[in-house]
Amino acid sequence: MPETHFDEWIAPRYATLWPELFEPDVIDPAVDFLAALAGTGDALEFGIGTGRIAVPLTRRGVRVHGIELSAAMVDQLDAYRGESHVEVTIGDFSRVGVDATFDLVYLLRNTITNLTTQDEQINAFHNAARHLGPGGHFLIENYIPNLQHLPPGQTRHVFAATPTHIGFEDYDLAAQIAYSHHYWVIEGQLKTFSSPHRYLWPAELDLMARMAGLTLHERWSTWTREPFTGESRNHISVWAKTR
Ligand SMILES: C[S@@+](CC[C@H](N)C(=O)[O-])C[C@H]1O[C@@H](n2cnc3c(N)ncnc32)[C@H](O)[C@@H]1O
Repeated sequence: MPETHFDEWIAPRYATLWPELFEPDVIDPAVDFLAALAGTGDALEFGIGTGRIAVPLTRRGVRVHGIELSAAMVDQLDAYRGESHVEVTIGDFSRVGVDATFDLVYLLRNTITNLTTQDEQINAFHNAARHLGPGGHFLIENYIPNLQHLPPGQTRHVFAATPTHIGFEDYDLAAQIAYSHHYWVIEGQLKTFSSPHRYLWPAELDLMARMAGLTLHERWSTWTREPFTGESRNHISVWAKTR
């Protein structure tokens, strides 16, 4: 069973620690994109967290169900959901089933990399396909591994360096794992957060999709459909259920 790193300390501070995720120009285009893809259908979010995207999506008329490992994150969702109807199943999205089919299954913010083995990631694709009706879509938002930023012989990439936040990744290139580390000074105290990620490129995701009976439908570098190129740092990929 994968472990969650989003515990009782992190969960209530999620929006404070990653404020950029809550900017309207980050949330609104993601919700627009997902609402258009769901159409009049229902959606299932793998790793729904605090409902950052799911709650505004329900306000657009999409019924959203979530699968989430961390009860602490779901507590935050409960506090945030208001009148929104969001159901959550506690469990591992690579294995847990919900007794329903959906028009859209989606997975945001690199959360596929929280599964640290290839088998678990493949299982997540099969689990998504299992929950899709004919013609349904599976969407993943993921980053492109920062290996181009590593000088020869180095395995550490610093992505944040301010007086109150140091963040870096250590790459185990043979295992295809990046260990992400954060050191924050918050309320005068040093807090740390570390998590392992199995990073992967779009081509490996496409292969996992094919194994699960899904075919690439579209791929963009942003929610506003900018083209995906060799310079892109992120991708939004959508596969369709074809069998
Ligand atoms: C980066 S957060 C993203 C939360 C939310 N999707 C968002 O966009 O704000 C990743 C979430 O996925 C959850 N998670 C990670 N691995 C999981 C797994 N195998 N099964 C279910 N939830 C998982 C974590 O507990 C956390 O809430």
